[in-house]
Amino acid sequence: MATRDQWSSRAGFILVAMGSAIGLGNIWRYPYTVYENGGGAFLIPYFVALLTAGIPLLLLEYSLGHRFKGAAPLSYRRLSKKWEWVGWWQVFMAFFIVTYYTIIIGWALSYTYFSVGTQWGDDTNAFFFGNYLNTSDSFWDFGGLQWKVLLPVILVWIFVYFVMRQQAHKGIERLNRFLLPALIVMLIMITIRGVTLEGATEGLNVLLTPDFSALTNPSVWVAAYGQVFFSLSVGFATMITYASYLDKKTDLSNSGFIAALSNSGFEFLAALGIFGALGYLAHVSGSNVNEVVASGIGLAFVVFPQIINTFPGLNDFFGLLFFGSLTFAGLTSAVSLLEPGVAALRDKFNLTRTAAVNWVCGGAALVSLLYTTGGGIMYLDVVDNFINQYGLLFGALAMITAVAWVNNQLDNMQGHINQISDVYIGAWWKISVKYITPIMLLFMLTQNLADNFM
Ligand code: PFF
Repeated sequence: MATRDQWSSRAGFILVAMGSAIGLGNIWRYPYTVYENGGGAFLIPYFVALLTAGIPLLLLEYSLGHRFKGAAPLSYRRLSKKWEWVGWWQVFMAFFIVTYYTIIIGWALSYTYFSVGTQWGDDTNAFFFGNYLNTSDSFWDFGGLQWKVLLPVILVWIFVYFVMRQQAHKGIERLNRFLLPALIVMLIMITIRGVTLEGATEGLNVLLTPDFSALTNPSVWVAAYGQVFFSLSVGFATMITYASYLDKKTDLSNSGFIAALSNSGFEFLAALGIFGALGYLAHVSGSNVNEVVASGIGLAFVVFPQIINTFPGLNDFFGLLFFGSLTFAGLTSAVSLLEPGVAALRDKFNLTRTAAVNWVCGGAALVSLLYTTGGGIMYLDVVDNFINQYGLLFGALAMITAVAWVNNQLDNMQGHINQISDVYIGAWWKISVKYITPIMLLFMLTQNLADNFM
């Protein structure tokens, strides 16, 4: 059996866990989700979701990986032979996310380059969808391959491949050591500039003014739980894998709190900076903030270039800063989506790291080419919706069923965490994992099914 990779220290582990959590989800998904779901009032369901599901499941994943010392499938297998499939399910979810996640990093990389001289021109919408993506209206359009998209995506894959080939403490950990501090400095600069722009307060008001009636809307709660899962990277086997590379005695609970809270802090700061900038755009274009906010992809790649066009000086620099940080944040998360597959193949087939990386990166890179075709954006949407609305929820439910209900291992997992950790975790953890989270997951699944099929 090949020896297991190991992080260099506890700090190294916290760093990679933060790098996984802080990603595209924090920079464009979070601000838009808060805006759509009650503004300031969204913070209430968000924190409830963080405390009753996000952190509890994060700690459950840490403890599974740490106690059973395996990638997800092997860890579940050691829990009980019948449950190995849950690990594979989660590994596949991570694999499919990374196929399109790298595409968005590719876009961010292109836009970092386009920032020099604001090459996107005045009509940023036409530039993104027409000139750059060259999207077609037909779902079955596999033609229209765009070099402008393909080239950066290939560059991303080559870079990621060489990081992944090295042992985890050399490749993934070193990547995070460089990129994460840079990212934090860049974010602070964006936030300070965003909130000090003219008109920024108007944007901040829209973001922070609570609409309390949203709290009675079930879909707001579903959105909060969804955001917390994606943003914290729970439910995708990532944290099981990362925790399996830890030393026997490393603290788990305190590390989990640090990773989770810094992730939330990061997304909150990003939202402040971005809404400040949106307030500014509304101000200079004489419209109101609600008119300039756009959803998901559009916010980063259509509205932000517009903001940069009208920036009062240093346009290129702020373009580089914004798209550069999107690229950095994406890269540290992408490697964390690949590692579950790599580690799972190594455990199962006793492969060398290089062989496993060749299979996983090669396979994912091939699938990702599909999204660079004319119909690409539509496939991306289908895969993203399936994973986040069903695949993830189902996997998390299966995880809880396996550990807490069928095999009755919750007390043992709690004991395992408390034995080695600085911060003692009490009954709230078991109640959250055994009852609150699964009820919420079932509710989300039915809500999503109803929304899509009824
Ligand atoms: N947490 C990452 C983000 O916010 O963009 C995305 C992610 C990474 C999800 C790793 C799941 C995962 F396993």
